[in-house]
Amino acid sequence: MPATRKKQVHLAAQLPGIHNVTVWSDPRSESQISIDSFIRLAQTVERGKFDFFFLAEGLRLREHKGHVYDLDIAGRPENLTVLSALAAVTTHLGLAATVNATFNEPYEVARRFATLDRLSGGRAAWNVVTSYDAFTGENFRRGGFLPEPDRYTRAAEFLGTARQLWDSWAEGDLRADTVTGEFATAGAGRFAHRGRHFDIAGRFTTPPGPQGHPVIIQSGESDAGREFAASDAEVIFSKHSRIDAARDFYRDVKRRLAPYGRGPDDLLILPTANAVVADTDAEAAAYAEEISRELVSPQTAIAHLEAVWGRDLSAYDPDGPLPDIEPEDDAHLLKGHSVFRNGRAETARQWRKLAEERNLSIRELVIEVGGRQTFVGSPRTVADAIDHYVQTGGADGFVLVPHLTPGGLDDFVDRVVPLLQEKGVHRDDYTGSTLRDHLGLSGAPRPAGWGGPAPRDDKETSA
Ligand SMILES: Cc1cc2nc3c(=O)[nH]c(=O)nc-3n(C[C@H](O)[C@H](O)[C@H](O)COP(=O)(O)O)c2cc1C
Repeated sequence: MPATRKKQVHLAAQLPGIHNVTVWSDPRSESQISIDSFIRLAQTVERGKFDFFFLAEGLRLREHKGHVYDLDIAGRPENLTVLSALAAVTTHLGLAATVNATFNEPYEVARRFATLDRLSGGRAAWNVVTSYDAFTGENFRRGGFLPEPDRYTRAAEFLGTARQLWDSWAEGDLRADTVTGEFATAGAGRFAHRGRHFDIAGRFTTPPGPQGHPVIIQSGESDAGREFAASDAEVIFSKHSRIDAARDFYRDVKRRLAPYGRGPDDLLILPTANAVVADTDAEAAAYAEEISRELVSPQTAIAHLEAVWGRDLSAYDPDGPLPDIEPEDDAHLLKGHSVFRNGRAETARQWRKLAEERNLSIRELVIEVGGRQTFVGSPRTVADAIDHYVQTGGADGFVLVPHLTPGGLDDFVDRVVPLLQEKGVHRDDYTGSTLRDHLGLSGAPRPAGWGGPAPRDDKETSA
């Protein structure tokens, strides 16, 4: 009997652009916005045969007490522009861009992804996010215009409309027939969509790339977000890198697929994770500790606490206990930070409880709750842990976020990847050419009520 093939570990890499997940003060750190950094990390992970390279998005500089929140790395270039440049210096690596469905328009976004998929030979992916806060909205024409419950109805309609646009060019529409003189068919690119959020009709400029539709990624956490992923996405990111929470999330999301006629392999679950690799487990643990303390300086610890408490806590000692005062909501204190799902009071209660149970100072608590150093150890320890995690239903793979830009995944690629290959859970080489091939996905899901061929009218000839 042939041995059952072990589940494959899908690997992606993210170049961190904001947040204190990167040690920018390390002498080995280089620019987070120079093309050399993007190329270096992308080419490294392509050498490690990763599935894709991913860029997050933040559409406004965050503020803290009226100043740019420079405990984050400030500044980030536009994703599709960067990935287009990377398409030219990589050959197989998938290229995934976060693009917001709240602040953009389907025509423009569909056009840019069709272009990236074409330029890259079928390697594009779109992380459809729905972040909507009014502070970010001030950067856009309509301001903070979208009530929270409407985010996913807009996102679903946005994606459905983009799908119509990608489908508006049928195979054979580009004729280039020198005998008849016909270059494109009369119906090429025709579309019409009338809905609550978008009412558009016309002709789409861009024949789709080899994948037809880019791979669709979702990263919301809420019930509506998980449902959107189950109906519409092919990959979902998550922040649940600790195994128990990860397994709960995994089970919950996979069980949502069947009602949409989809199987468990149609949606891959990839938590973000860090890997700290050194010669021995003890050395890696010491290095991980050092990284945590570099990432969470005393000021960062207080700023993090202020994000939850919503009030000025600068008088508190970062090495002392958590404040015993209650949170309130000073809207001017921190702007652009994500809202805590459980609300301020409940989050503060949980943090206090954790700090008391483990006798943690403010800084130690922030390190604990923000920590994502999931895999720490020798190359063997890290490879075994990743394999175990995937084989036991915690994830289908990981998005690795290095703590150093751009060299932070060198050790992982050189020392951990060969061990995963030896275990038979990671490819020795790419066997397909598109990102959907790497992910083992069959094709674009079609949500009920959206998509399908655009209306065609062969009488119209103007373009
Ligand atoms: C792993 C992960 C990565 C995310 N990356 C981004 C991002 O780059 N840009 C962004 O605007 N939102 C990002 N988000 C936020 C979500 O996509 C989503 O908009 C937000 O969580 C609100 O949706 P929810 O209420 O369903 O959680 C990310 C969320 C997660 C879990």
